[in-house]
Amino acid sequence: MKRESWKSRIGFIFAALGSAVGLGSIWRFPYIVGENGGAAFILLYLICLALIGFPVLISEILVGRTTQSSPAGAFSQLGRSKGWKWGGKLTIATGFIVSSFYSVIAGWTLGYLVEAVLGNLHKFKLSDDALVHFTNLSASPLWTVGFHVLFITICCLVLLTGVRKGIELGSKIMMPLLFMVLLILVVKGMSLPGASQGINFLFSPRWDLLTPSAIAMALGQAFFTLSLGQGTMVTYGSYLSQREDIPRSCIPVVLLNTLVGLLVGIAVFSIVFSAGLTPSSGPALIFETLPVVFSQISWGYSLAVLFFVLVTIAAITSEISALEPAISYLMDEKGWSRKRSTFTVAFGAFALGIPSALSFSSWKNVTLFGATFYDIVSNLSVNFLVPIGGFLAVLLVGWRWGIQPAFENLKTGSVSFFQDRPYLASYFRVCIKYTAPILIVFILLNLLGLY
Ligand code: ALA
Repeated sequence: MKRESWKSRIGFIFAALGSAVGLGSIWRFPYIVGENGGAAFILLYLICLALIGFPVLISEILVGRTTQSSPAGAFSQLGRSKGWKWGGKLTIATGFIVSSFYSVIAGWTLGYLVEAVLGNLHKFKLSDDALVHFTNLSASPLWTVGFHVLFITICCLVLLTGVRKGIELGSKIMMPLLFMVLLILVVKGMSLPGASQGINFLFSPRWDLLTPSAIAMALGQAFFTLSLGQGTMVTYGSYLSQREDIPRSCIPVVLLNTLVGLLVGIAVFSIVFSAGLTPSSGPALIFETLPVVFSQISWGYSLAVLFFVLVTIAAITSEISALEPAISYLMDEKGWSRKRSTFTVAFGAFALGIPSALSFSSWKNVTLFGATFYDIVSNLSVNFLVPIGGFLAVLLVGWRWGIQPAFENLKTGSVSFFQDRPYLASYFRVCIKYTAPILIVFILLNLLGLY
């Protein structure tokens, strides 16, 4: 079976951007910027992207492009041992676990899109009404599991059609749509009275808030938002031609992903502050705060629909990228067809997602040390497995494969890029070999409370 590949560089950029722009960029990034120093945090975040996000992204894509294989085969080829193969399998498992609970939350956004279309999201008189509405819906197993299956079915349909017709074409349609919706929301948000308070919350620099915990947060965000450590970027890299210019393809992904996060922040916080509400993050922002605002402002119905279209698109393109590593593993290593692999992985992610979906209703009280199933799988994968996966990628490239042969390989397709900017060669070598692994250890120690 001939290995699939991207049709064009722009297709790859849209797919990788679609993977990066997700719930993390929409409900987490703007809030942590506002809470942790505004412009000062943005500067810190850009430094983290340069020191860790970008080098790890380049390493993962390089591993995929060089080996033209799923993460398990890629790690074993370059690592030349069974142990490394297991490292690759761990990253695939991480993507699979992420896809299982991500689909549950994404299912809520799809459910809220339906609520918005039905006109149920712009008639809350009190903040508590929105909270009660969300609590009732998320406590219904039928609603949570139902939208979880619907969401994963949509992703499955995209994945079934393959890399070019499914992931690439889907991202080429969905990402411009996402930008269009986002721009409408930004323009509307900025035209509201009191919007400047939201912009101040997001951008005014507050250097005193740059604490060690803000640094760890910026590092973790740089990591999660680029979908690193979960097999995604290795797999997407494996569909690139050997002649592709990796740095030139990755720069727009990193920059546009940051731009989306900031634009979402401008839109959301101008809307929230214009209604005199306090900002929040996570589910509280999307499912509790914003519906109250949509109930108070003009065009609330249309804004609610547009906003949930935006979040759902972002979630679909991220979810498919978390499922694809396992699909490509089954196709490469077991020789299965795309159809069989996609159905198996999608069904597996659906089944593993059920206890997560029920963690908000019937299994609410099934806990281990006070944590529900959802808490355990989401914390374990996002906080530990994802950084470990990224750590393995830079260790593989910088130390096992060797920075010299790896760099020679990276230069394929990028000769002019490095000729014009010779200093970038040293930057990549130092970051991949030393800075990124050291900073990832810092993230892990900080999470374990040892730092
Ligand atoms: N990168 C994806 C997100 O930010 C997973 O949600």
